[in-house]
Amino acid sequence: MTDTGVLMPRRRELQPLPYWPDYKTSITRSPSLPLLSMESTPSEEAGPRFGHSMLGPLDNNLILNYTQGQAAAVGERVRVHGRVLDETGRPVPQTLIEIWQANAGGRYRHIKDTYFAPLDPNFGGCGRTITDENGFYEFMTIRPGAYPWPNRANDWRPMHIHFSIFGHSFGQRLISQMYFEGDPLIERCPIAATIRSRSQLDRLVAPLDMQNSRAMDYLAYKFDIVLRGRRQTMFENKPEGM
Ligand SMILES: [Fe+2]
Repeated sequence: MTDTGVLMPRRRELQPLPYWPDYKTSITRSPSLPLLSMESTPSEEAGPRFGHSMLGPLDNNLILNYTQGQAAAVGERVRVHGRVLDETGRPVPQTLIEIWQANAGGRYRHIKDTYFAPLDPNFGGCGRTITDENGFYEFMTIRPGAYPWPNRANDWRPMHIHFSIFGHSFGQRLISQMYFEGDPLIERCPIAATIRSRSQLDRLVAPLDMQNSRAMDYLAYKFDIVLRGRRQTMFENKPEGM
């Protein structure tokens, strides 16, 4: 196994800023004292293992999974796919990816979401899958609608899908969001703006992928995900696996 070994130090400069006054709730939720760095612990280096046997056949199909195939969700059909890699460029196989999103009108199936857009009786908004041996994954879903949120006078979230990727240990787990190429609301979003580097933000914007679209059916978007890396286990003075 080459996926064992200690985690590489977290690169804080690549993380969104926790304090961002334009994102109002970050003012009260962000740490008021400087962060301390600590060595990772064995419980961070290890993590849960997930197997394909825990997945249902429609778990990665949000168009059909809420009704178990009885009826399809309303909206523009899209395929979201890509690879999970670590910082050293190695694929992360057999890792659990969970996603959640608003429906085509921009409404979540959540008790606290009271936006005017109606719920779709055939759309739940959650899905999951496990990467294959080369780190590939894919979801079929509908394009989520943009939605307004209480922040400044008139703020809207761009179309987005929330992602959780477990990696191979708790210390690798990543929570992030995917945006869609060409959405003008990305530039106006105070949450997206907490990412200071243009290139970092661009990595959250999935490009339209016509090659993997299907005519008269769906558009594809390609979203590759990079997790925190692990150092290869040293074995007899050379990296294991070489
Ligand atoms: Fe959201």
